[in-house]
Parts: sequence; structure tokens; C-alpha cells
Amino acid sequence: MARIHIASDHAGFALKSELIDQLVAQGHEIINHGCDQATSCDYPDFAHAACTALLADAGSFGILVCGTGVGMSMAANRHAGIRAALCTNEFLARATRMHNNANVLCLGERVVGAGLALSITEVFLNTAFEGGRHQRRIDKITA
Ligand code: RB5
Repeated sequence: MARIHIASDHAGFALKSELIDQLVAQGHEIINHGCDQATSCDYPDFAHAACTALLADAGSFGILVCGTGVGMSMAANRHAGIRAALCTNEFLARATRMHNNANVLCLGERVVGAGLALSITEVFLNTAFEGGRHQRRIDKITA
């Protein structure tokens, strides 16, 4: 089971709530960094809170949800040590774990339905990093 730092803005609040219910039922440990209601708010505030906590919590994962997933991924990837991937299907979720060792999954509530989002999340959480040549490439990401 995974320990997951999760956050959303207002546009991702409903999907985040659904994911929390499902992931808790599966036995995962969830730390929710807000927002706490679907009132208009700013996605970077919540991306930064979740990423800061994740970086202090070795081995944990992050899930960030906004309307598109794009803003959350941009904010998250400003943190050294965060490799955030916006995924719209299971292929991307599997590949980014295997090749990029992504530690944050970004989702767009206005892009994917709850069923697909949960399936993407399950693939992300259950796929291992392959290491080897992929680690060498990850080491070169930081400019
Ligand atoms: C909010 O309207 C929306 O801009 C935000 O959730 C996100 O999609 C930004 O990238």
C-alpha cells in the first residue's frame, strides 16, 4: 500500500474526493493538502503544499488534480526532486513510472472521468521504475 499526498483546486475537488474514497477503501494512506471545498482558489498553493510534504516523506507518492492537470504539473515540476506527470490514459501512467520514475500523478477533472482516473491511478501506483539507462536520463533532466 502507498502513502499518498493528494491535493486539488476547486476544479479538481470532486474528482479528488472520489479518488480519496476509492484509495482509502483500497487501504492506501492518504494525506489531503486541500482544497477543502469547491470554492474558487489557486492551484499552485495546493501543489506546493503537497510537493513540500512529499519531499519530506521518502517513498511517498503525490496526486494533484485541477481542471486540466496542466497547471498542477507546471507548479509541481518547479520543485527539485518532483517528477510530475500529467496522464490521460493508463499507457502514460505505466510508461512514466517505468521510464521517468514519476512520483506525482497529475489529473484533469475536466479531461478524464472518475472511472478512467481511478484506473490511471491504480496503474501509476502499481508500476515499478525500471532503473538502469532510465536513471541516467533522469539524472540529466535538471539543467
Ligand atoms: C481553473 O479554472 C483551472 O484553470 C485550473 O483548474 C487548471 O486547469 C489550470 O491549469
